[in-house]
Amino acid sequence: MSTVATAGGRTRRHLLSSADLDRAQVRAILDTAGEMQGIQQREVKKLPVLRGRTVVNLFFEDSTRTRSSFEIAGKWLSADVVNISGNGSSTSKGESLRDTVLTVAAMGVDALVVRHSASGAAHQVSQWVDAHVVNAGDGTHEHPTQALLDAYSMERRLGSLEGRHVVIVGDLTHSRVARSNLITLRTLGARVTLVAPPTLMPSGIATWSQVDGFELSHDLDAVLPTADAVMMLRVQRERMSGGFFPTAREYTVGFGLTRPRLQALVTANPDAVICHPGPMNRGLEIAADAADAAQSLVLDQVSAGVAVRMSVLYHLLAGEES
Ligand code: ASP
Ligand code: CP
Repeated sequence: MSTVATAGGRTRRHLLSSADLDRAQVRAILDTAGEMQGIQQREVKKLPVLRGRTVVNLFFEDSTRTRSSFEIAGKWLSADVVNISGNGSSTSKGESLRDTVLTVAAMGVDALVVRHSASGAAHQVSQWVDAHVVNAGDGTHEHPTQALLDAYSMERRLGSLEGRHVVIVGDLTHSRVARSNLITLRTLGARVTLVAPPTLMPSGIATWSQVDGFELSHDLDAVLPTADAVMMLRVQRERMSGGFFPTAREYTVGFGLTRPRLQALVTANPDAVICHPGPMNRGLEIAADAADAAQSLVLDQVSAGVAVRMSVLYHLLAGEES
């Protein structure tokens, strides 16, 4: 986590990029998440560790999983949690992001969880406020807690990710999940291959985020048999201004996890797992058979999202000196 002195003169920890976390910090967050998952199984799901602290979810882009899991995570740690979204806030009256953020911060909040369509938004917010900031997805840039929960879910099934081959497939151009996952997976020593059609592979990808030691491919069928984990990315139609592939059918034929590819994966490696951050376009990037297969971690990822976000809030907020 990056530690910075704020305008108010206090020291604050933020989680803005997966690159903020070295291997020991990723390990600490994943280990604490393991303990937090125990609480998820209990009848009374409460720990008093963030009593008296206030967490605000500021979501200027739609979300089901991230927003609700941060809310549940904060509540289970006894924090007070407030949700503010673009629709229904004074943003719709033209209030700027800066004024909105300063207004919320002036109420005395301890942490802001920010999702915004602009890359760099969470970083910008962290420079305006005297609170901890977590990036819950900024444009096409990063989604660090998603990468942590993905690593957590894969480790639960595969054990250590050191040397394991993770294949990330699909809309790399518009995905913030891919970049954060690449960074975290390399931090944990995994071998990573990014697969996409040429039109959805950004031109500067070879130097992405200064991460090294990953491979690129346009041939999913060639890569699939060596995969320990396949992570399918959503085709992000809301971010596409032009045609990135001729038809949905052609995309599926070339880059979808279809039923025949599921068979090929399982035949080559019966222990391989399938991930998707959600929401899924069933029938486009992932067939229903693959999404619902025994190898699929999709719902494990959702469940891990609560434990991992409890852990992140705990590591940011618990025991700090204000
Ligand atoms: N939900 C993830 C995100 O917000 C992935 C996706 O939307 O495709 O980045
Ligand atoms: N995976 C993910 O971030 O989902 P939401 O967009 O629903 O939060």
